[in-house]
Amino acid sequence: MNNFNTDLHTMTKSADGSYTAYSKEYDEHYHSTKDGALNESLYKHVYPAFKIKKDFQELNILDICFGLGFNTLATIYYLKQTSSTCRANIYSPELDEDLINSLKDFSFPAEFEDIKHIIFTLIQDGVYSDTSLHVELFLGDAREYIKKFDDFFDVVYQDAFSPSTNPILWTKEYFADIKKACKSDAVITTYSTSLPTRLAMYENGYNLYINSGENFRKATVASLVELDEFELVNMKHKISCNPDTKPLRD
Ligand SMILES: C[S@@+](CC[C@H](N)C(=O)[O-])C[C@H]1O[C@@H](n2cnc3c(N)ncnc32)[C@H](O)[C@@H]1O
Repeated sequence: MNNFNTDLHTMTKSADGSYTAYSKEYDEHYHSTKDGALNESLYKHVYPAFKIKKDFQELNILDICFGLGFNTLATIYYLKQTSSTCRANIYSPELDEDLINSLKDFSFPAEFEDIKHIIFTLIQDGVYSDTSLHVELFLGDAREYIKKFDDFFDVVYQDAFSPSTNPILWTKEYFADIKKACKSDAVITTYSTSLPTRLAMYENGYNLYINSGENFRKATVASLVELDEFELVNMKHKISCNPDTKPLRD
């Protein structure tokens, strides 16, 4: 075991055996303990993104937000496991510098053993680069960070704390900034299936899709262009059944 636990964070074992953390500040776990931390990263973010972007040789990925680094590491793990030739450029903002510094003591899953040195480089330098990978960790506010980009990202892992806990990263205005930062065929992956979240994207022109499978609870994929890989959510029907539901706003 290790020294990760602090006044603000404690490590918790999740259903797939991998550890996640509980945030006392947000009163929320960093991952679904029921789906499992590693499983959640793979099934709700990495697999759906790469299913859609399977033919790409280079991807710019926005990882909102870095947290314990699972989505970034799971992406690198997936690329190595599949011997992919795709170059990944991953950009991830994170507000909590103390959390980042404490990651050296976190118990990462065995699957990350060969790549967790990347986390140590990120803690020290904020950036990691090799021939097939570039990762930038930005310490600061994601809302400000995403405004620096225009027509750049292919994939967004939308993995903030829940809309009720951290609403500023789920509003209609936030997704408008995300849309501007992304290429027109970009895909957003998220664990949230709530109607206000989907409306915040829908009202920015996104099509919403259901990401479902045996290993995890339902999740959402969003895209401005039509996708064949996932089942479309009938938003007109959902809105007509829930006329009073509105997207979160700034
Ligand atoms: C659910 S956790 C992310 C989990 C992460 N994707 C992973 O796989 O480990 C949400 C993270 O968002 C960070 N956060 C909250 N508000 C933020 C903001 N405005 N800008 C950047 N990071 C923020 C929190 O500190 C926390 O680490």
